[in-house]
Amino acid sequence: MKKKHISLIALLIVIKSLAFANTNSLIADTLVHGKVLSDTDGKPVNAHGPGVMYHQGVYYLFGEIKNGKTWLVPGQNWEDYRVPAGGISCYSSVDLKHWKYRGVALKPTVNDPGSDLDTGRVIERPKVIYNERTKKFVMWMHIDKNDYNYSRGGVAISDSPVGPYRYLGSVKPNDQMLRDMTLYKDDDGKAYLVYSSEDNNTMHVCLLSDDYLKPTKTYSRIFENQKRESPAIFKNEGKYYLITSGCTGWSPNAASYAVADKVTGPWTQQGNPCKGLNAEVTFFSQGAFVLPVIDKPGRFIFMGDVWNKTDLERSTYLWLPLHVNNGKIEIYNP
Ligand code: GAL
Repeated sequence: MKKKHISLIALLIVIKSLAFANTNSLIADTLVHGKVLSDTDGKPVNAHGPGVMYHQGVYYLFGEIKNGKTWLVPGQNWEDYRVPAGGISCYSSVDLKHWKYRGVALKPTVNDPGSDLDTGRVIERPKVIYNERTKKFVMWMHIDKNDYNYSRGGVAISDSPVGPYRYLGSVKPNDQMLRDMTLYKDDDGKAYLVYSSEDNNTMHVCLLSDDYLKPTKTYSRIFENQKRESPAIFKNEGKYYLITSGCTGWSPNAASYAVADKVTGPWTQQGNPCKGLNAEVTFFSQGAFVLPVIDKPGRFIFMGDVWNKTDLERSTYLWLPLHVNNGKIEIYNP
């Protein structure tokens, strides 16, 4: 009888640890450590500076298509490496492991130097959210020229998550510069653009109109004169977390994260979320997005780019589990 009791307990422990291992392996199998991530056709995923939207059971991944030869823009006082802008790609997955290529969600234009979407322009860090009222999928992205002084937010819409997206134009929110950016839709349906502004010195958080197509006059200046970029935002247990990088172009640097009770701030810097070897260079990556794993509260994936600055098309990705422990973010060295 006693023996039976012990083996029942042992069985329960095994079942419990198997369930735990299962949850962990979902995340672990998903991870990409600076390797080429292949789609379900075996082709390299071309989705840099990515964003993911979860919609009706499917994860949609959007990113910059980098295609062609990298070149150095002459006359700049920084390493302004450029590659033709190939528009925005879309991939879908139901398990975060298998990514099916869904085509070019937003097409670039060719030999059209006056157009925001010309392959000679900068089209970076696309993010997509769904508007329940208008039933449209709304994409925002950073639009620029080679010297990064155009600094605008471009917006496009579609009736379908995978596109094609129709480009509506670009803006300088409240007449302010917009460079590295992200988009955040809160639980109450309000959406915000978060972007490096004021020549990358200060970030702005700007509330969008109800249809998500225009910036409103409601915005706040955050991280004043801290020179932060590559914002990635998420919410956990009622608090907002914002991971940013420093400003060293394509070269990696230390990330820092901040916490706030409201998206518009005030935000308090908490230091580097990365732990272990090479934490001071974000494990050679730069953050782009934090993906909440659906139905796994408290589980997130930090998605970064491993830039190959002299051959940008060959840049890869770093996806790592992100934990929040007692309000503190921890991302461990793979
Ligand atoms: C990085 C930025 C990238 C890209 C690059 C250009 O700092 O995060 O998205 O704009 O600069 O050098």
